[in-house]
Amino acid sequence: MKIGFMGSGAIAEILSQKITASGIAKPSDIYLYDVSANRLAYMSEKYGLTVCCEPKDMIAAADYVFMCVRSDNAIDMAKTLNAYDFTGKTIVSISSGIPMALYENNVPGAAVARALPNPPSRIGHGVIAVAFNSKVSESQRADLMKIFGAMGTCLALGEDKINAITSLTGPAPVYAFFQGIVESALLLGIDHKTAAKMAFGTVEGCLKVWENNIDNIGGLLAETSTPGGISVRQLYNLEQNAFKATVKECYEEGFLRTKAYSDGILEMLNKE
Ligand SMILES: NC(=O)c1ccc[n+]([C@@H]2O[C@H](COP(=O)([O-])OP(=O)(O)OC[C@H]3O[C@@H](n4cnc5c(N)ncnc54)[C@H](OP(=O)(O)O)[C@@H]3O)[C@@H](O)[C@H]2O)c1
Repeated sequence: MKIGFMGSGAIAEILSQKITASGIAKPSDIYLYDVSANRLAYMSEKYGLTVCCEPKDMIAAADYVFMCVRSDNAIDMAKTLNAYDFTGKTIVSISSGIPMALYENNVPGAAVARALPNPPSRIGHGVIAVAFNSKVSESQRADLMKIFGAMGTCLALGEDKINAITSLTGPAPVYAFFQGIVESALLLGIDHKTAAKMAFGTVEGCLKVWENNIDNIGGLLAETSTPGGISVRQLYNLEQNAFKATVKECYEEGFLRTKAYSDGILEMLNKE
């Protein structure tokens, strides 16, 4: 399999590392283009990837062309793509908030996929949502699921779900919850190091229990809720403080922000 990267920054580095480490493609079968010659030199020297001086050379060589420029550069870059032949190739958009329509409009008839790897993908524990347009064949879908599977749990979803997934797979609310446990421990007189270890161990243990009962989070809560016990008092307190409503509002806010960005791009494409 031959893979090309348009833009060879942070996400291209992570993806190419995962692809080569999992044996999906050899370093020499990964073709890079970037506007920055320094960046290309770094990627070639450090990882032995193949550098292309022109986008056309990278596109001609690759079966899958990953668009890894920053979202604000993607619109102008996409306009240049109609000069190239994408027959038999798949365009894969990684840029956050960029809809497949940007590439479909600029390369009519192209097979296009859109993927959203979240930050833990860097260490192979990500959640990666992938959407395909109707031109992507079964075997191309399977290849892309394998590629993104090297970064963690890969979920194929309709593009209409991507904005929700952007919000739901962001780690910030989860880290904030971890921090809340640590700060509670400090408040109750436990030293910082012990607090962090205890919070981590508790979260890790709960995740393992959940993993063994993945569809039944309600059952796990019921199990811990001894009548008149501590857990039911804690849950009651969370309820009084609208904990779940706050969590839901926070994810909805993330969804609305990302949707507004995508809608702006779709509106611009419709006007063109
Ligand atoms: N980093 C992540 O973990 C991550 C995860 C998921 C999704 N993403 C998404 O992936 C996209 C890229 O992020 P990144 O962190 O990899 O950004 P980055 O490190 O800034 O890399 C982008 C690279 O593309 C180059 N570039 C700009 N215009 C170009 C063009 N027309 N043709 C070829 N190369 C061009 C940039 O060069 P200059 O710097 O000289 O402009 C830069 O080297 C973003 O939309 C981001 O949201 C990133």
